[in-house]
Amino acid sequence: MESHPYTKPRGVGPVTTELTPGAEPTAAQPPIEPGGRDGAAIRIQNLARHYKMGSATIRAVDGISLEVHSGDFVAVLGASGSGKSSLLNLLAGLDHPTSGSVFVLGRELGAMTPIELSRHRNGTIGMVFQSFNLLPRMTVMENVELPLRIAEVPRAERPQRVREALERVGLAARLTHRPGELSGGEQQRVAIARALVNRPRILLADEPTGNLDSATGEEILRLISSINKPVASAAPGVPGVNVAAAHATTATTVVMVTHERALAERYANRIVTMADGRIARQERTANPAPTAEAIAEKGVPS
Ligand SMILES: Nc1ncnc2c1ncn2[C@@H]1O[C@H](COP(=O)(O)OP(=O)(O)OP(=O)(O)O)[C@@H](O)[C@H]1O
Ligand SMILES: [Mg+2]
Repeated sequence: MESHPYTKPRGVGPVTTELTPGAEPTAAQPPIEPGGRDGAAIRIQNLARHYKMGSATIRAVDGISLEVHSGDFVAVLGASGSGKSSLLNLLAGLDHPTSGSVFVLGRELGAMTPIELSRHRNGTIGMVFQSFNLLPRMTVMENVELPLRIAEVPRAERPQRVREALERVGLAARLTHRPGELSGGEQQRVAIARALVNRPRILLADEPTGNLDSATGEEILRLISSINKPVASAAPGVPGVNVAAAHATTATTVVMVTHERALAERYANRIVTMADGRIARQERTANPAPTAEAIAEKGVPS
């Protein structure tokens, strides 16, 4: 398994509409940004990841087909061990499937050269984990700068990019702190800034609120929602979040694993429930799905 040095592989909400298990939403969802030929940000075909443990085979991901549209906010629910993290790691290119394929923005990960795959991991996607995975000896600024160093962004450009990313998460005043000097919510915001600094098209989040109290978790969800729809929701209620910075950015497709159904219903537009490595259920929430018109009206650059 390959990974970045800074990643570790491994209420009453709105009404939802149930879709046929494994089926795609039926309403027309025009693409909002160029993705694959049909605007899909992610297309998964018959994806499987089996682990051999002695004579036993663990079918962590066991034949999944799924399409994520550009601009979607998809929440992945499911019991512990149902394969959610395994699926996210495959999308991130941190792990390779046993069979099947993953297309991201029209490109198949399995057909990428090592350099292309590394660009995918560091540039096309941003990833956020339950345990933040910040490097404790580095300052906030150095942690957020790391993906820029990996991408060989010129040194002179980096401070401004780091500041922009930290402004988006409302932490521009914490540049020289170390992770241990921050609250859990602040550490997660640094991790989100680090995930955003290379301006990824897709944000993958694996239980980003799992280590946070419910109020802080809600704040992080509002922030992720503002990244998904930067103009419509510029993280109201998140102190210090720079609304102007949000307006200047493009919508980011989000796939988020969570155990909290209420949060999924409040923020995602689709919910995918996994069971035993498969998709057991797909629903659409009452939250608006992305449309080309909505994005065009807001003047988001292509
Ligand atoms: N590296 C591995 N080697 C062997 N088995 C693994 C490995 N990683 C995951 N598994 C197994 O695959 C299955 C799915 O694991 P996964 O971590 O994807 O579940 P999950 O849905 O993310 O669970 P949780 O909600 O507890 O995080 C589990 O049975 C797990 O034990
Ligand atoms: Mg998991």
